[in-house]
Amino acid sequence: MTEKREEWGTRIGLVLAMAGNAVGLGNFLRFPVQATQNGGGAFMIPYFCALIFLAVPLMWCEWAMGRLGGEKGHGATPGIFAMLWKHPIAKYLGILGMFLPFGVTVYYCYLESWCLAFSWFSLTGRYHEVTEVAKMKDFLHSYQGLNTSFFGGLGTAYCFFLLTMTANVYILYKGIQGGIEKLANWGMPILFVFASLLVLRVLTLGAPDPSLPDNNVINGLGFIWNPDFSQLGNAKVWLAAAGQIFFTTSVGFGAIQTYASYLKRKDDVVVTGLSTTMTNEFVEVVLGGSLAIPIAFAFFGRDMMLDIANGGSFNLGFAAMPVVFQKLPLGAIQGFMWFSLLFIAGITSSVALLQPVVAFFKDELRWSHGKAVAVTGGICFVAAHVPILGLKAGALDEIDFWVGTFGVALFALLETIIFVWIYKPENAWREIQDGAQVRAPGFFLFVLKYITPVYIGALLIAWTWQQGPAVLRMEGVSAADAAWRWGARGLLVSIFAAMCYWVHQAKDRIEEAK
Ligand code: PHE
Repeated sequence: MTEKREEWGTRIGLVLAMAGNAVGLGNFLRFPVQATQNGGGAFMIPYFCALIFLAVPLMWCEWAMGRLGGEKGHGATPGIFAMLWKHPIAKYLGILGMFLPFGVTVYYCYLESWCLAFSWFSLTGRYHEVTEVAKMKDFLHSYQGLNTSFFGGLGTAYCFFLLTMTANVYILYKGIQGGIEKLANWGMPILFVFASLLVLRVLTLGAPDPSLPDNNVINGLGFIWNPDFSQLGNAKVWLAAAGQIFFTTSVGFGAIQTYASYLKRKDDVVVTGLSTTMTNEFVEVVLGGSLAIPIAFAFFGRDMMLDIANGGSFNLGFAAMPVVFQKLPLGAIQGFMWFSLLFIAGITSSVALLQPVVAFFKDELRWSHGKAVAVTGGICFVAAHVPILGLKAGALDEIDFWVGTFGVALFALLETIIFVWIYKPENAWREIQDGAQVRAPGFFLFVLKYITPVYIGALLIAWTWQQGPAVLRMEGVSAADAAWRWGARGLLVSIFAAMCYWVHQAKDRIEEAK
């Protein structure tokens, strides 16, 4: 290595950046809807099983792999896998660890830009004459360019998308300490404060409409948390819970390894990794679980809330919430807090999703920092046009299924096999424990060797079996929509092919720098 690789500046900065990586739109928008649709309180049983048997052990592996890679100058999984497994194919398998996070950003940055736009709209009163959920859905659709009742076209959304992309590129350009760490140091405390204030507000709401006393916050909380145990026999619930755990903890994508590659050799993995994962869980279960669903329940009642939630995470977050805020005193400020906390959660995750590719370009292709960031941002920007323009046709869902559900399980299985079995359990375990302030319990070695891989293998089979054929054949999709969905697949294949080409170009460096 000629110049020194970047490192995290402070321990608190590292913890906040890693927490920012994990805390994202998944915590506030995806989680409440998943929990509601999959048995409420009963969902938490498979959810916590997945947390203990998948997320925690895998998170330790990813932190340890990343630290090991960073020491030898590899910040992305092609180089890291090549270190762990001396087989020429290892570096190609590692492509998944930059392809998956990158694939997510292709649509994630667009969603993030909606949050920015809506926080602006809250302050400026842009939606303030819209006081019904149905109307607000219309407003959202119009913003997305699907109708012209509020916006003439996609122009506004596109401007906010450009702003969001620029912000992402700027932060990446500023680097690990000057960009990502600084963003987390400022953003995460603001996020905690805004989320806590909103939760306090929700908990003191009572029953907003005295003539309908059953529509109250307590019943709303009960609605999420009262367990429906009959759901536990349903494989769908277990799959949804595991999918949510992967997505929210950022485990199984490859993004954690890259952040961990900026650790110092002596840094602890066991305690720090666990504390960032637990921070994510607090934000998700306690804060995320106390906002959208209880508030929608209190204001709209059970049936309507279910109807909204079944329409997806966006209806809940972008249609129901703004309507509620308008019914409250100082609603504009609360709306602003809600959407800007979503934006902060989003941007601290999207930079984490983009960084693996940046790190690969710099570490393995020896590109300058500026070039690495510009090319990464440029490709993301161009690729994002597929989910932006093909939103109605489901291009976003198509990408999300392949990278966010199927791809993650596949990559999680691969990394467990490579790190635990090929690199050998005793080496993997030593890597994890090295520098630990408190050692990880030996029980987890057993979990890592047997339970985690079998668990993921079962998920992978179940997902492929249950959803694979329908998704592959695009069941129930019209011909026009299918064209967009094929476009989305073509996009993913092209990105993957480009990454194969780059890894091939870097193969000598990757092999020699082991
Ligand atoms: N964990 C983020 C969320 O909850 C998404 C994410 C996945 C971020 C993978 C980085 C890597 O929204």
